[in-house]
Amino acid sequence: MAHRWKNDLTRDDITPEALFLNRRQVMAGLAGLGLAGLSTRAEAETLKPNTWDEITSYNNYYEFGTGKGDPAANAHRLTTEPWSVTIDGLVERPGEYQFDEIMAKMTIEERIYRLRCVEAWSMVVPWNGFELADLLALAGVRSGAKYVAFETAYRPEEMPGVRFPVIDWPYREGLRLDEAMHPLTIMATGIYDRPIPNQNGAPLRVVVPWKYGFKSIKSIVRITLTDKEPPTSWNMLQPNEYGFYANVNPKVDHPRWSQASERKIGGGLFSQREPTLMFNGYEDEVAALYEDMDLTKFF
Ligand code: MTE
Repeated sequence: MAHRWKNDLTRDDITPEALFLNRRQVMAGLAGLGLAGLSTRAEAETLKPNTWDEITSYNNYYEFGTGKGDPAANAHRLTTEPWSVTIDGLVERPGEYQFDEIMAKMTIEERIYRLRCVEAWSMVVPWNGFELADLLALAGVRSGAKYVAFETAYRPEEMPGVRFPVIDWPYREGLRLDEAMHPLTIMATGIYDRPIPNQNGAPLRVVVPWKYGFKSIKSIVRITLTDKEPPTSWNMLQPNEYGFYANVNPKVDHPRWSQASERKIGGGLFSQREPTLMFNGYEDEVAALYEDMDLTKFF
């Protein structure tokens, strides 16, 4: 995979996470989009990524089974070459976009993000990828678009888990357009500078770091711009447990467990649970998106 780096930072630098937001964005004046905290976050902590083995052996990818080890055991069956993504709905240039052509046009950078699952475990992942906004710009978002819907591949012959009606396949997710366009929202295509493994959502998956992990939909084959909130898999299954927004929020518990703390994967058997951060630690960047909303209602 070709990587074109925009900056010279690596995960080994003692560097505040905010600086991983690239300079182009900063210069483009995105301060006005809620990134005004960039310089003040210079004292923010450094994130220590989980190991490759942790990130690639403890997964949720129900198309390959519901056990945490099932995706690593089964996802090699997924054919990821060739791959294309259909982008349709309210766009100027609808069509089937080849993965290789997308990659040739995108700038790949590293983003070290927290990943907080709704099941109350967490990791830190050094993703490689590009901003979803850049992909949407390729297709040209038409005025009137308010939401973005995503769909994972549905391949019964390659995905042993879809025999079970755990969810209404294909796995579907969605974002409000401003969430999708936010510079923190990326399409991940790699981890630790290697192509993203199948169990993590090859060849491209969404990563929205301030939302519960189930919003970060894997192995995407379709992106549809719409004017209506799209149906999403977990919400369709249990609307009282999984909302459309799914913002990480330690003050809004899941009906069956607390969301106030989390278990770090790799922390060891006796490690303490850690407090969960509002918007998973990205409050400065994203709180403005939800200013007038009751987050207990729009959970
Ligand atoms: N995407 C698809 N298509 N199917 C899934 O089962 N699980 C989600 C999300 N994306 C899932 C998915 C959940 S619950 C989480 S926590 C993350 O993927 C886990 O990502 P990871 O396995 O890369 O850590």
